[in-house]
Amino acid sequence: MRRRDFVLGALGAGALSYAQPATALAQQRHLAIPYGAAIRDGVIAEDPLYAQAVIDYCQVVVGEGNLKWGTVQPERGTFDFQLADDLLAFATKNGMEMRGHCLVWYAGNPDWVETIASAEEARTEMVRHIETVMGHYKGRVRSWDVVNEPIADAPTTGAVYRDSVWLKHLGPEYADLALRTAAAVDPEAQLVINDYDFEQSSDKGRAKRKAFLDMVRGLQSRDVPLHAVGLQGHIQGQIPIDKPGLTAFVAELASMGLSVLVTELDVIDNLLPGAELERDGIIAQRAKDYLDAIAAAKRPDMVLTWGITDKHTWVPIWFSRDDGLPNRPLPLDADYKPKALMDVIQDFCAE
Ligand code: G3I
Repeated sequence: MRRRDFVLGALGAGALSYAQPATALAQQRHLAIPYGAAIRDGVIAEDPLYAQAVIDYCQVVVGEGNLKWGTVQPERGTFDFQLADDLLAFATKNGMEMRGHCLVWYAGNPDWVETIASAEEARTEMVRHIETVMGHYKGRVRSWDVVNEPIADAPTTGAVYRDSVWLKHLGPEYADLALRTAAAVDPEAQLVINDYDFEQSSDKGRAKRKAFLDMVRGLQSRDVPLHAVGLQGHIQGQIPIDKPGLTAFVAELASMGLSVLVTELDVIDNLLPGAELERDGIIAQRAKDYLDAIAAAKRPDMVLTWGITDKHTWVPIWFSRDDGLPNRPLPLDADYKPKALMDVIQDFCAE
């Protein structure tokens, strides 16, 4: 069965538009909703096909790791912006935006951060980090994941927040300090809290949505500046999207005056059938259900995938396939050819 026929089958009559040639899409760069991707450090310089794919498709880029604490402040007080400066230069040269990911997270930290031993030290180091990093990009990076993945994977009444050096020393209000500091450094910047698993039709998905909404209500009740929520979208391909649940979740966020961004879309396919056409079709359908469910409540500010080609993706780190076949979670295959997923994203962003 040809890809086109399968996609038609999987996505019904409206799929015809998905077969446009790639170059036409490049010329339609001014999509109604900007599309972008996470960029793996160093690959743009090494691989011209990768750089060209980013130029052809993206209006926005974000560093997969170039602004994480471990990269920009590897030693206490020593800041290194080289990788992020390089990506920003590439983005600016090609008319793209660059997002900032991420300032305060439980992971991606250098060892010295994990040795922080008091509330005072945690407060001092967090404030200095945010002031220095956001200060360096003030007015040039306009949207920041200030707090990343604050909610526990399976939140319960007693354990809503994910353990971190920040939660340990500052309690849940570490998020208040991070957001207030960010707003003070760059009052024009879009301040985002970014997290995942909001789309699942599972107890975990429902618990995560409830816990996240409760956290946001708490922040707003304390007048903490927050502008948007990053819906990561690392979709587990074998689990159907809870469309009514996700739509209601986004509607609730919208009713609180918040914007939403799709920040890290990919479809984890280690438990999907091996046949590529069939797998690509299921992946495209999951992404379409996900994006449509969000847009049913609020149009996202932008849609970013966590990488652009299957050649460079984090998915095999934790979700490699038992059959040994390569994962196919992203819009372009390992030869930079567009798949049904790119058709879905381009069509969604063009609407
Ligand atoms: O650069 C070093 C390399 O020098 C060394 O040889 C190699 C072997 O250890 O490690 C390389 O660093 C790895 C880095 O990715 C660059 O590829 C780190 O070990 C590895 O932990 C890091 O993984 C990243 C992970 O976040 C942790 O920061 C993934 O690439 C990245 O895709 C992933 O992205 C996260 C988002 O930030 C937040 N949401 C979930 C998403 C996926 O986990």
